[in-house]
Amino acid sequence: MLLDRFGRRIEYLRLSVTDRCDLRCSYCMPEGYKGYEEPEHWLNFGEIERLIEVFACLGLKRVRFTGGEPLLRRNLVDLVQRLAALPGIEDLSLSTNGTQLAKYASRLRRAGIHRLNVSLDSLDRDRVRAICGRDVLPQVLEGLEAAREEGFQLIKINMVAMAGTLEEEIDAMVAYCIERRFVLRLIETMPMGDTRRSSGFLDLRPVRERLRVRFGLVDGVVPGGGPARYLVSPDGRFQIGFIMPISQHFCETCNRVRLAVDGTLHLCLGQDDRVDFRDLLRTDCPDAAIEEALLAGLHRKPARHEFRERPHQVVRLMASTGG
Ligand code: GTP
Ligand code: 5AD
Ligand code: SF4
Repeated sequence: MLLDRFGRRIEYLRLSVTDRCDLRCSYCMPEGYKGYEEPEHWLNFGEIERLIEVFACLGLKRVRFTGGEPLLRRNLVDLVQRLAALPGIEDLSLSTNGTQLAKYASRLRRAGIHRLNVSLDSLDRDRVRAICGRDVLPQVLEGLEAAREEGFQLIKINMVAMAGTLEEEIDAMVAYCIERRFVLRLIETMPMGDTRRSSGFLDLRPVRERLRVRFGLVDGVVPGGGPARYLVSPDGRFQIGFIMPISQHFCETCNRVRLAVDGTLHLCLGQDDRVDFRDLLRTDCPDAAIEEALLAGLHRKPARHEFRERPHQVVRLMASTGG
């Protein structure tokens, strides 16, 4: 039932549970940023659960927790547990910067998170400090170890590749991921909000070609619902995904929308089209009214982003929907 006007089936919700973050990655949040949402505008867990329950009745299957940094939302584990119990939701996952992972890995797994995607742009401590604005590499590595020991089915490393990213850094990350059985994903930087856009775009096509030849990689499939396209080594030990919104558009297969912490449903990462659910949820409305707003919204979902054609168009920060 959740079809948009281009016939795309929308079955994946990216749920931002906070717009706050403890890091300041150059491509995501400006230094000194203060424009956070007021706490009284945050959807509470009951409101989120109700909205997702209606959504799931219409065919939603996957929910990914994002932020800001989702682990900063107090009692997040309780929300995970509540959503895990909803009929129809088959895939619960979380995207995190990893700084709080050592503390939460075990509780998240028990609450029902199956898959973790963790941001890590370099294994060089100084580079991480320069990109993220905080000296967090040891903490993130510790979080990743904790998650690995916890036995998550699938851990993906998100490495945003920028103009300054060195081949050696990518190679070091490849070795790290092969050794630990993490799935590596290389991501092209998208221009969103007034961030240090100068962190700059790196076309990943030549990088993909180099790695393909070096490891004899072939097309492969890795569980997940996002836009990454995977290559795998013949022995299956190395799996690498490429998320290339700039050099290779993937919008024709889009299957997702994003709910921000204030109840705004963003219909596309790269456009401003939206539906406000907070006011609706805070009136005494029947489920049918929520359904109607959702279906009308999906009908307005844009065909595609225009990051290349209009790079200054989206003023919203990546941090407000967590990618
Ligand atoms: P799975 O495939 O389900 O594991 O998740 P995912 O890769 O979709 O989620 P993740 O949060 O790890 O996102 C990885 C990168 O993909 C981030 O840079 C996101 O901004 C980007 N991304 C995810 N969905 C979209 C999308 O719809 N459009 C664009 N342009 N980028 C997206
Ligand atoms: N371009 C591409 N990816 C981004 N992310 C955050 N900002 C950007 C951007 N401008 C990534 C993070 C995280 C994921 C959810 O989104 O690195 O791994
Ligand atoms: Fe979908 Fe928009 Fe992302 Fe394209 S940019 S894949 S249309 S959300």
